[in-house]
Amino acid sequence: MKTKAMVAISLRKHFMNRPHLRNRCIMALFCTVLGTLSLLTSEQPAYAQDKASAKDLVNALHAAFGEHHARAVHTKGVMFEGNFTPAPEAKTLTKEPIFAGDSLPVVARFSDFAGIPTVPDNDDGAAPAGFAVKIKAADGDDFDIESNQHKDFITATTDEFRTFLLALAAANKGDKAPLNAFLDAHPHAKEFLASRSYPVSYAKATYFGINSVKFTNEKGQSVFVRYRFVPRAGEQYLSPDERKAQGANYLQDEIVKRLADGPIVFD
Ligand code: HEM
Repeated sequence: MKTKAMVAISLRKHFMNRPHLRNRCIMALFCTVLGTLSLLTSEQPAYAQDKASAKDLVNALHAAFGEHHARAVHTKGVMFEGNFTPAPEAKTLTKEPIFAGDSLPVVARFSDFAGIPTVPDNDDGAAPAGFAVKIKAADGDDFDIESNQHKDFITATTDEFRTFLLALAAANKGDKAPLNAFLDAHPHAKEFLASRSYPVSYAKATYFGINSVKFTNEKGQSVFVRYRFVPRAGEQYLSPDERKAQGANYLQDEIVKRLADGPIVFD
């Protein structure tokens, strides 16, 4: 089921000098998934039998990208303040209070993918870009959404993702064999890497939530939804030659300049 315009996110203010806020966007949806996995039994489907813990995954990210004493991934980013406005039809799908009322304040962060603080915005490792949104609910129960600028994810399970990251770590040290073997055995991962796109602006890409989330309305009716942020400015991506010609901070610089001309809005 597709419901459009459930929300509008409008970003109005760039955090210039508030580094203490940079680490406060949390991966609530992702942590919920990992927390649940440890409770599941062997009768569950393959994705539920993963052995790697959240810590294993973070360590694998550090192995792939290096220990920078910063975020393990999506390290380079830029933060904004804005507001979230639910569309009137949203409350027919869920009784969650944030979808029922007026506009709420938002903290949002655009980021490059890699766990490398200095990754150039036009590097392969910058994609898919991320968009994290924290909606500040009136009752203090913040609502976090993580999304990536790719319609799906590189692997189906956390164990596979860990294997990929460790293979990447070996490749970075000169041993490409594990990575080649992984990609040969996982055609979707190969396709994912090849199909990454590079936006002209963080504000001109669509961002996708990967998990399905169950929404239940006042009548007890439930539907599964996936979040998608569609840019009002339209989508626009760079050709390989255009990408090569960009500077190392083209995304970070452009988005701050863009804001001077008016709010950045996603539906
Ligand atoms: C097994 C899969 C995944 C692992 C192990 C993982 C791990 C992480 C970790 C450790 C962080 C850094 C958190 C911090 O230091 O604040 C992070 C950030 C992030 N992740 Fe994931 N993640 C996974 C899947 C995903 C998926 C599927 C999406 C989106 C659809 C996603 C989107 C993001 C974004 C946007 C951020 C940056 C958050 C921010 O700007 O505050 N991740 N991830």
